[in-house]
Amino acid sequence: MLQKLDDMLKDFRERAATTDTGAHLSELKAEFLGKKGKLNDVLKSLKDAAPEERKTLGARANELKNRIQEGFDARMKELELAEINLRLLKDRVDVTLTPSLRDEGLTDAGYHPVTLVQREIEDIFLSMGFAILDGPHIEDDYHNFEALNIPKDHPARDMQDTFWFADMHHLLRTHTSTIQVRGMEAHQPPFRFVGPGKVFRNEALDASHEAVFHQLEGMMVGRNISVANLIYFMKTLLSEIFRRDVEVRLRPGFFPFVEPGFELDINCLICGGSGCSVCKQSGWVELLPCGMVHPNVLRYGGIDPDEFNGFAFGLGLDRLVMMRYHIDDIRHLHSRKLAFSRQFRAY
Ligand code: FA5
Repeated sequence: MLQKLDDMLKDFRERAATTDTGAHLSELKAEFLGKKGKLNDVLKSLKDAAPEERKTLGARANELKNRIQEGFDARMKELELAEINLRLLKDRVDVTLTPSLRDEGLTDAGYHPVTLVQREIEDIFLSMGFAILDGPHIEDDYHNFEALNIPKDHPARDMQDTFWFADMHHLLRTHTSTIQVRGMEAHQPPFRFVGPGKVFRNEALDASHEAVFHQLEGMMVGRNISVANLIYFMKTLLSEIFRRDVEVRLRPGFFPFVEPGFELDINCLICGGSGCSVCKQSGWVELLPCGMVHPNVLRYGGIDPDEFNGFAFGLGLDRLVMMRYHIDDIRHLHSRKLAFSRQFRAY
């Protein structure tokens, strides 16, 4: 009888090891420990055994019951784990990919060309001692206009029509110059920083105008800063980015927050200056407006203009990307076309 009990445990263990679902394992347990199970059959036959033998057999039967229960618990754990792993494998979701991108076969990631160029520019400015600052996309009237010397009803506001919130006080920022204001609020001069980011305008779209695009603001404030300093940094930026001399022109430009103000245009690299839809047949692309910070702006930022001065610039990042990679329409950048994006894949 003792041998029968030992064989029963062996049998259970062997069969449990080959079960492939929790349901099958439960059926197996019932076959051994259930009311009409094998163990009960053995226990029933105990009534005919001698008292001494009954005691030994009873203890062994109890032990068998415990062993089978333990074997059942351990195997059930294994099966549950295997089931979870299988489900994870089958239902795996790469949350960085939309289903359509996955369907189209894009299974690995890369950076957008604007991100690539933005990072390159950040590195260039970091190496020249500039900090990198950030700012919110949702701004208030003060940081987007007032503190930049653009009071209510100033005609310059018309150039940057944007999306206002219902309170008519908050808006989607129209330029990264808001980062100038926040940078001055947070730092004491001398300082120098750049601030890249998305900006939003209610624009008529064409080959060089988007409603959501990117700029990179720059600001340097200290003592005795000159236009020569400004031009030095602009030239260094362009020669590092294009890795060759590019033709630029500097002309007067009006922005209420700089005085004097300049427009730095680049000779169109799409058409070589002969005229195309990107440069609107002019041969030049507006890329980098800049100037010496207006004293009123310094005052708004809590800086004494009799002691400090500085320069600021606002680079059009998407247009720089277009010039760098010879992209003939800004709308390609947000087209979500894989054939386009794949050309720039980099890590
Ligand atoms: C400004 O936004 C000023 N804040 C720049 C500035 C900063 C001037 C500091 C002086 C000192 P503007 O509106 O020109 O300026 O835009 C700057 C650059 O952004 C343009 O030269 C252009 O390259 C790019 N840009 C402007 N509008 C669009 C648009 N709709 N789509 C794509 N790029 C644009």
